[in-house]
Amino acid sequence: MPGCFFIKYENKKSEEWGVKNEDTEFSQSENLLTSFAKGETQYLHSTLFTLHSVVKRRVIMANVKFLSGENIPLEMHKVRMVQQVNLLPVEDRLRSIKEAGFNTFLLKNRDVFLDMLTDSGVNAMSQNQYAAMMQADDSYAGSETFYRLESVLQDIFGMKYFLPAHQGRACENIIALALVKPGSTVLTNYHFTTTKAHITLNGGIVEEIIGDEAFKIQSDAPFKGDIDIDKLNEAIKRLGKDKIAFVRIEAGTNLIGGQPVSMKNMRDVSRICRKEGIQLVYDASLLGDNLYFIKKRDADYKDVDIIEITREIASLMDIVYFSARKLGSARGGGILVSDENLFLKMRELVPLYEGFLTYGGMSVREMEALAVGLRETMDIDVVSQTPIIVEALCNEIMAKGVPVVTPSGGLGCHVDALQFCSHIPQTQYPAGALAAALFIASGVRCMERGTLSEQRNSDGSECLAEMELIRLAVPRRVFTLSHVKYTADRVNWLFQNRKLIGGLEFTEEPKMLRFFFGRLKPIGNWPELLAEKFRKDFGDSL
Ligand code: F0G
Repeated sequence: MPGCFFIKYENKKSEEWGVKNEDTEFSQSENLLTSFAKGETQYLHSTLFTLHSVVKRRVIMANVKFLSGENIPLEMHKVRMVQQVNLLPVEDRLRSIKEAGFNTFLLKNRDVFLDMLTDSGVNAMSQNQYAAMMQADDSYAGSETFYRLESVLQDIFGMKYFLPAHQGRACENIIALALVKPGSTVLTNYHFTTTKAHITLNGGIVEEIIGDEAFKIQSDAPFKGDIDIDKLNEAIKRLGKDKIAFVRIEAGTNLIGGQPVSMKNMRDVSRICRKEGIQLVYDASLLGDNLYFIKKRDADYKDVDIIEITREIASLMDIVYFSARKLGSARGGGILVSDENLFLKMRELVPLYEGFLTYGGMSVREMEALAVGLRETMDIDVVSQTPIIVEALCNEIMAKGVPVVTPSGGLGCHVDALQFCSHIPQTQYPAGALAAALFIASGVRCMERGTLSEQRNSDGSECLAEMELIRLAVPRRVFTLSHVKYTADRVNWLFQNRKLIGGLEFTEEPKMLRFFFGRLKPIGNWPELLAEKFRKDFGDSL
């Protein structure tokens, strides 16, 4: 009987494949057996197939050394489904970025060679995720798929209640509506664009209390995303706890270069929040990267299974939310909470903005893929894949003098446009100009993370960003080492020719989240000169 085989397998102990919490894993099997007893044979069969390879969790990262002594990022997966990509000649790339108003968000993907815009919703899914999609239970209310996803989340995070939402920013909307009052402040290590927009839309103020090290481009601090505890205490004293809507930790921290937050910092912040009675909210969209860095950079956690680290993080928080476009390599999102009152406060908003409580705007197929993807994320060899590729890309360009954010973080390689284009004033959007120039030079689409991504101050003046970065995002398990080498080669060429790059100015500037749809034009004819120089240096090469 397949059920018996499964349980036997689950109890098998091995040094290499560790299943630490056997009780929890076992209860999964019990659930399956209950389903079996209910006569859901088909479901049981396919779930067994899916979970069979998912529950094998690796505790220790694969350690592979090369004869040459080189530190080569080794992919711990093989590619079994591919998508053809197209590399246009430089003249066509120039035409394409002009049509896009020099905004990489407005490029058509058919004109893009390597899409490094984001790691959101573009991660490679596993065969188990695709298999799981086939067994989805389509139902407006009470879908079995929902309960499967809920039980995976409860197991991984150890939190009781799960509210589904269609993506991360939808969770932010619900949390902000429930907790932010006009005039209240959200203290956070660092904002994310959509988070800030939802908080300010509800009349709140965002105050950043990250450590000063975060703004040093070159640093060897292992956890640059940490909250500065003195700043936290000072802000609580100054504002008074009743004026603080919540404290928010984003880990990894997106806009400052995918930098992680340490366990010690999360424990310290949680202790203060609990003492003061302030809610602590955790944005877990980049949890996978953060888990890798905790294991890699904190000796105390070297041998701790990442599901245990996840549960410890969750135990420190009042609310955990995530974008499943990143965490779990699917699409969707969700909020986890332990407190019933908080759950009830947010629950009524889900049907209003997202959909009924058992799908929250997600398709049931994505929910199945997410349930499996979340389990797979609890494997160190899965979460290591993006950070090791990011590190390789950073190393390749740093070797040629290109200024990048160090230590290398998760989600992507971050190039410092303020140094790269030191001749372009910040009011002419050096990071936006660099992103457009890189597309002309390579067909690689990256994202501006600087002043363009900021909202203007209420008096209409520019809000100059603390950091002026371009992000070369590395979607999970999508690109190969040759893609990394190609990208590095073109970044290095552009660095040698950086003086050719000029500034940008808006021709159309939306009021809200202007970086999405804003259109710009170059100051001078630098894009043409750059394309001509490319042709001269590379001859007939694409
Ligand atoms: N929080 C963080 C830390 C994020 O990085 C994102 C999205 C969100 C929330 C919002 O989630 O997109 O599902 O609504 N980051 C994407 C990016 C957009 O490209 O970095 P979402």
